[in-house]
Amino acid sequence: MIKIALIGSTGMLGIDVNAVFNGMGFLIKNFNSKNLDIADAKVVHEALCGFNPDYIINCAAYTDVDGAETEKEKANAVNNIGVQNLADAALILGAKIIHLSTDYVFDGTKRSPYLEEDAPNPINEYGLSKLNGERALRKSGASHIILRTSWLYGKNGKNFVNTILKLADNRKKVEVVADQFGCPTYTKDVAYAIFKIITKDNFKNEVYHLTNFGQTSWYEFAVEIVSVFKRVNCEILPVTSDKFLRPAKRPTYGVLDNSKIKGDYDIELRPWKDAVKKYCNDIGYFIA
Ligand SMILES: NC(=O)c1ccc[n+]([C@@H]2O[C@H](COP(=O)([O-])OP(=O)(O)OC[C@H]3O[C@@H](n4cnc5c(N)ncnc54)[C@H](OP(=O)(O)O)[C@@H]3O)[C@@H](O)[C@H]2O)c1
Repeated sequence: MIKIALIGSTGMLGIDVNAVFNGMGFLIKNFNSKNLDIADAKVVHEALCGFNPDYIINCAAYTDVDGAETEKEKANAVNNIGVQNLADAALILGAKIIHLSTDYVFDGTKRSPYLEEDAPNPINEYGLSKLNGERALRKSGASHIILRTSWLYGKNGKNFVNTILKLADNRKKVEVVADQFGCPTYTKDVAYAIFKIITKDNFKNEVYHLTNFGQTSWYEFAVEIVSVFKRVNCEILPVTSDKFLRPAKRPTYGVLDNSKIKGDYDIELRPWKDAVKKYCNDIGYFIA
């Protein structure tokens, strides 16, 4: 039986990854910050050598983009050192790692979808820590795939869809930035793609971009959310990002070109608007 160590099993993506593999004939062991601090090399070595996985799926990360500006060391410990520790253990065990990364490794100055070979240039501490994690994994010698995704939402985490729904339930008008562009991505779709990569058993040491298809702005995304979830009494108003100054800069443009993963694995995620409808179907019109 194929053994999978799922790191970050309690996170928004990790929970959906667990659900996709559950009952499909894999032996999954779940790890999160309560039972394994990936920043601690010794603990990682012991935990993974004790389980001896075939695959390590790393959904763990420090994901507080604004918090990373002041908690640089914490972000680096999880997003860089933690990845290095997993890679070191994987190399010893001969395990393959599937690691999640982000469009925030780019500076957002391009105006056409980013390719895997485009030069990264993060503009915030979170992006820098994730890029350093990618580099540590690339250099480690461990067999790996890096999946860069963007604007994730799913049932089990803090995310933009749920935020807009809560605001729409309490306000008549909500202002949303209209000058940042990217691609919203449903965690379930990413989880199925990871399942497909593992079951295809055609592992390549590569970086791939993986998002739902298409592109939009946060404003248009919010308009779609209130429409699909039928929050008809709330008006979404476009504003420029200088109206919402935040501790961390965000890339203006973070659209990722997905053709490489389509070519190598025949993976093409559905259009982002279809994914929002699917999410609505999955969770119902109301969120807790
Ligand atoms: N969210 C997005 O919009 C987005 C966009 C692009 C890429 N990504 C990437 O996608 C991946 C999944 O993101 P997500 O939003 O699902 O993350 P999340 O909901 O914030 O979950 C993070 C997970 O990491 C675990 N974790 C944190 N520190 C840890 C440590 N020191 N040791 C072990 N586990 C630790 C957490 O465990 P506890 O629950 O125990 O704290 C949790 O299970 C990450 O690599 C992220 O960088 C996310």
